[in-house]
Amino acid sequence: MRTVLVMPETAASWLNFVSAHLFGFAQFDPIMLNLAAVSAHSGYRNFQLQYQQLDLPEEEMNGMREMAYLMTARANVFQDIPVVEHLVEWTSGRKISKTLDMASGFGLMPAYLRSKGHIKGQLILLDRSSMILEQAKTMMASCNTKATFHQGLLEAIPFTEIYRDYFDLITCFNGIYCTKQWRKTLVDARDMCAPNGLLAMSQKLVSCREYDAMGYVQDIGFDVIDGIVINDDQLIFLAQKTC
Ligand SMILES: C[S@@+](CC[C@H](N)C(=O)[O-])C[C@H]1O[C@@H](n2cnc3c(N)ncnc32)[C@H](O)[C@@H]1O
Repeated sequence: MRTVLVMPETAASWLNFVSAHLFGFAQFDPIMLNLAAVSAHSGYRNFQLQYQQLDLPEEEMNGMREMAYLMTARANVFQDIPVVEHLVEWTSGRKISKTLDMASGFGLMPAYLRSKGHIKGQLILLDRSSMILEQAKTMMASCNTKATFHQGLLEAIPFTEIYRDYFDLITCFNGIYCTKQWRKTLVDARDMCAPNGLLAMSQKLVSCREYDAMGYVQDIGFDVIDGIVINDDQLIFLAQKTC
């Protein structure tokens, strides 16, 4: 039997989200708010339910930790506004009909781009955690977004051969630090990207020393089109496959 401590930040984040919503933040895009609300709310409910189970397998425990992270991050969704704004700008006017989101979490970013019509067609979410993918399904359904959900690891993406030279857009937001084999993951991303396809990523600046994704993608066949530091602690960049 294992006991699990409820993280105090979780409740705080929830309150944070609600207060942000009530006090002024509601002026922000309603679709984004809706996604954030579903994300935070369903995560919160699920989290509470899961905490009543005391003997979870390790994989589910990992899912719980990630869920805690996502709830915190997503409840503070306004931190992502600059990321979203850049994504909207970067994808505007491009024909994107095949998208892969790696380490997708709830898939909030592609769901938002889709709601704006910037990405269309096929959307695939890849994440290690089945629990998180279940939440992602709820979230996609709430915004009428069709997607397919793959449980799998960044280290061993299960469909690299099937989707060679395929995706118009591959995204990975705050996910690359999750694997020590990040170079392999980026090579796989390059192989799955269509010629002239796009790769959009974000990562904490502090992780860039160990996981220099922006530097590395330039060595393996991408041009970096744009790279911006936002909120003083996050790097977001867009790269295009050169062949
Ligand atoms: C920090 S969250 C980011 C989620 C999402 N991209 C976002 O911006 O909201 C990291 C996600 O990576 C997933 N993850 C962690 N390690 C992974 C791995 N080795 N392979 C695939 N997914 C992984 C977690 O389950 C979690 O959903």
